[in-house]
Amino acid sequence: MTFNNFVGGKWLPSESAATFENRNPANTGDLIGLFPDSTAADAEAAIAAARRAFESWRLVPAPKRAEILFKAAQIIAARKEEFARDMTREMGKVLDETRGDIQEAIDMTYFLAAEGRRLHGQTAPSELRDKFAMSIRQPIGVCSMITPWNFPMAIPSWKIIPALVCGNTVVLKPSELTPLSAINFVKVLEEAGVPAGVVNLVTGGPAVGEVLTTHPDVSVVSFTGSTAVGKLVNQNAAPFFKKVHLEMGGKNAIMIMDDANLELALEGCVWGGFGTTGQRCTAASRVIVHEQVHDRFVDAFLTRVSALRVGDGLETATQMGPSISEKQLQKVMSYVAIGRQEGATLACGGRSLASGAHANGFFHEPTVFTGVTPSMRIAREEIFGPVVSVIKCGSVDEAVAVANDVSYGLSCSIYTQDINRAFTAMRDMYTGIFYVNAPTIGAEVHLPFGGTKATGNGHREAGIAALDVFSEWKSIYVDFSGRLQRAQIDTAEL
Ligand code: UN1
Repeated sequence: MTFNNFVGGKWLPSESAATFENRNPANTGDLIGLFPDSTAADAEAAIAAARRAFESWRLVPAPKRAEILFKAAQIIAARKEEFARDMTREMGKVLDETRGDIQEAIDMTYFLAAEGRRLHGQTAPSELRDKFAMSIRQPIGVCSMITPWNFPMAIPSWKIIPALVCGNTVVLKPSELTPLSAINFVKVLEEAGVPAGVVNLVTGGPAVGEVLTTHPDVSVVSFTGSTAVGKLVNQNAAPFFKKVHLEMGGKNAIMIMDDANLELALEGCVWGGFGTTGQRCTAASRVIVHEQVHDRFVDAFLTRVSALRVGDGLETATQMGPSISEKQLQKVMSYVAIGRQEGATLACGGRSLASGAHANGFFHEPTVFTGVTPSMRIAREEIFGPVVSVIKCGSVDEAVAVANDVSYGLSCSIYTQDINRAFTAMRDMYTGIFYVNAPTIGAEVHLPFGGTKATGNGHREAGIAALDVFSEWKSIYVDFSGRLQRAQIDTAEL
């Protein structure tokens, strides 16, 4: 099956007619389809369509825009199962998780569509008589979006829905590894009644990304992906003073104290470390365990982890799917080698799986390193795969110091029954997200999502905070005194 770009309300091939293949990472013999390998000219056409559509979309009353988005949420909900199956096929994560991904798109769409009846600004008293002061949110223009493969529908929704409700128009470039889920989402928006040109989708690689991050008619660039690519996006956009929202890597830690409910912590570490095959920016790739419970925890953790069933996410017995691609699998394997060279103990896993049911996919055993020290690369660098590093600590203060001592700052969690420790860690962890007695993954849509340091550039998506990326404040003063009143000079009489 051959898929098309969506430009100006029409589904079109690339002007070059070139395509790329999208294959199932659990079974590379399964071809999902051919997708446009788009050119700079395709991206420019999409931006032009979005630019034209902006002039009318920005004037549609926000509650009306929201009505269309509510309808979209309903359509997605009705097709949840179908979309989840498509997503497992193209991305590999198990069906329960792709259902969760679709649900996140539904939740985000309902939550942010509701902002169409709010989009609150402020009113403030003026310091002068007969003068009114207020601020309102204004749309910014064309927003380009570059989205990753690990949450193929949720993340496009995190960006597109707030952009639309604020009155912007959109050009989306989804990851080449998961274009189908993005197309499914955009088709729903079309069906729900989003006018032509308001949302455009162009599949392809860096040639498209280059235009989306440098074109003078793009006002906002929103990117989720690796820190290395985020840096390029930022550099590309900087000379044009575009507003840039970046959501990048993580090296998140679960801290387990000696008073923790160990059973609960174990479940959290398995889910946080190996859910989505470790391919979440929120994944718990480090576990920092108090020395008093370290050995007990490690024993039980290894038993659980080595029992995880790895396979095709479409099969109900499967608990962990493949890595997304050959390249990603190679990265995982290279970090296993690095961990061994660094002197960490490979406590379980460590091999790719390439025979029998695993012969045609990018599978790897769930892997745990113990005896990891904070300076090792496997404790500092984002692997984005099923590899967890266990680090021993002697106190909550030490755990927090180690957890903070990485270049990223997305998510962190603590397992403890002691409220003082929980609150101390909550205060002192310099991350955008923090959990108590829960793993580092599982953020909900109505709170801000994002991180500090090399994880982000100060913006947040989700929650009301998403509106700050996709709108601009305008402060408005209305003087109804009928005379010139000079602020700060003509001070009002009593
Ligand atoms: C990501 O890993 O890129 O909090 C997003 C979570 C999910 C989103 C993860 N709701 O784990």
